[in-house]
Amino acid sequence: MTFPRRSIAIGALVLAAVPALANPFERVRPVTHEPTRKECGECHMPFQPGLLPAGSWTRIMDTLNDHFGESAALTPDVAADIRAYLTGNAAGRGDGGLLRITEQPWWTRKHHFRPDVWTRPSVVSKANCEACHRGAAQGLYEDD
Ligand code: HEC
Ligand code: HEC
Repeated sequence: MTFPRRSIAIGALVLAAVPALANPFERVRPVTHEPTRKECGECHMPFQPGLLPAGSWTRIMDTLNDHFGESAALTPDVAADIRAYLTGNAAGRGDGGLLRITEQPWWTRKHHFRPDVWTRPSVVSKANCEACHRGAAQGLYEDD
């Protein structure tokens, strides 16, 4: 008696998972949190929370005083607010042990370009998403 019910449940799960698996990061929700937009958009585009899993955001927020060689330190209350927003809206997948979006396996698979691409004056850094994705600040990364 339980078998038919279980197979229906699995069927629904698979259907729900298919669009997400096909292109999970093509569109991510834009940054809607004003403090994150302001404080994390000073030196680079404010990266959308959906680009990294919660573990990565936690590590980033734990190490803001040495943030990729710079200090991005914040007052404790602002940091806590931003941390809650980023981890609460984080990606459901990815490697939480890696700090960078550009080190995530899905990212490196999608960006397997000739090495000289990254040193072009118009690009300069892998983290400069907007050099190639004009809609990046809105969370749009579809192939165009
Ligand atoms: C003082 C400048 C500064 C501020 C403020 C700052 N960052 Fe950064 N961030 C950097 C630099 C520099 C890098 C490395 C960029 C590179 O590799 O080209 C970086 C890289 C990153 C990356 C990794 C990008 C990649 O390669 O995938 C993430 C994620 C990130 N920052 C998140 C944040 C968050 C969250 C905040 C706000 C709490 C923040 N940053 C505020 C300077 C800053
Ligand atoms: C040098 C140009 C360049 C830079 C810089 C770059 N990308 Fe991309 N990105 C591309 C290209 C080209 C593709 C399409 C690759 C493909 O479909 O195989 C792509 C694909 C993607 C995809 C997958 C889109 C889809 O349709 O599945 C995502 C998400 C993405 N990039 C996010 C980012 C993020 C986030 C950054 C910055 C941290 C970034 N990219 C930086 C060129 C770039």
